[in-house]
Amino acid sequence: MSRPVEPLFEPFTFNGLTLPNRIVMAPMTRSKSPNGIPGADVAAYYRRRAEAETGLIITEGTTVNTPVASGDPNVPKFWGEDSLKGWKRVVEEVHGVGGKIMPQIWHMGMMRNPAKSTHPDLQSHGPSGLMMPGKQHSEPMTKEEIRQTVEAFGRAAADAREAGFDGVEVHGAHGYIIDQFFWDGTNLRNDEYGGAELVARSRFAVEIVEAIRREVGDDYPLIFRFSQWKQQDFSVKMAPTPDALAAFLKPLSDAGVDMFHCSQRRFWEPEFEGSDLNLAGWAKKLTGKPSMTVGSVSLSGEFIASFAGEASEATGIDDLIERLEAGEFDLVAVGRALLVDPAWARKVHTGAFDQLMPFKPEALATLS
Ligand SMILES: Cc1cc2nc3c(=O)[nH]c(=O)nc-3n(C[C@H](O)[C@H](O)[C@H](O)COP(=O)(O)O)c2cc1C
Repeated sequence: MSRPVEPLFEPFTFNGLTLPNRIVMAPMTRSKSPNGIPGADVAAYYRRRAEAETGLIITEGTTVNTPVASGDPNVPKFWGEDSLKGWKRVVEEVHGVGGKIMPQIWHMGMMRNPAKSTHPDLQSHGPSGLMMPGKQHSEPMTKEEIRQTVEAFGRAAADAREAGFDGVEVHGAHGYIIDQFFWDGTNLRNDEYGGAELVARSRFAVEIVEAIRREVGDDYPLIFRFSQWKQQDFSVKMAPTPDALAAFLKPLSDAGVDMFHCSQRRFWEPEFEGSDLNLAGWAKKLTGKPSMTVGSVSLSGEFIASFAGEASEATGIDDLIERLEAGEFDLVAVGRALLVDPAWARKVHTGAFDQLMPFKPEALATLS
């Protein structure tokens, strides 16, 4: 017998947006938007998830308007007439079936590969030009470049609102540009954007949140995604204690983040010794803001191993439901399980656990 799934199917409201349930499609890069323009196939892909009871869709990372935000011409852009027109179609299709959707706005920073980008001649941007500790590829960003990048995030949020999206998520996780500022391994600056304290290295992110608030006002849902781990180094724990996490999140919360999306590779892992709370549990407790968890929901293996070709079996979700019911977090993002199966949420709602699909890496090749 599985636990009753009702807690997953209770509505949730934050900053004026009411979601029909707690299930969120996690942002997943698909690289299926030639010239950065999401087409009809991309719109249909998201519509299929909305049609089958996914409460909120967060799109794949979509890049803000600077010449070096993207390293992949097939990653959708979030600027320019054709790309924004493509996104409007995505919104219309998702709204047409009663769904909700937000873009994840993104800048790859030093993780961009210039050779594969549309501007191979331009160096990538990062706080200190480091891709990872000891690997310097560029000059540190100038203050003017920082200012322009902050503005680009603000502009993207304004465009999201204009296009009819239900809110916006900022990608501050996984070792991309915002996280490169957070991490002392990649931010060696000694001006106001760097320093020994994590809270000082957060200034870039805080300015981005402030720029977004200036553009969209207070009444527009804003989610901020962050992770302790970096794809460059899974072992990094930039906030090693609850106090450090509280100090890190407070200025972001004060600047206007409505919800923290706390990226773990396995949602059930406790964040700090002495408590079962996961990262989303701590973020909610420390900020008083709602939070979203993520990481291997209904799958046996984690996502980075999937990129290396590992398959995952479908699993039960009793532990997830128990934590949700206890109020540890408010929303649950589901990545690969929704990538392979548009009907994941509906199957869970109807208790069809025996029909949940395993994740096979081949699924990454197509938009089905
Ligand atoms: C194919 C793929 C692409 C991803 N792209 C992004 C992305 O663009 N932005 C992001 O924040 N996370 C990205 N992720 C991470 C997911 O959002 C999610 O955190 C991760 O897959 C763990 O959830 P899961 O175990 O349910 O798949 C990606 C994951 C996958 C599998």
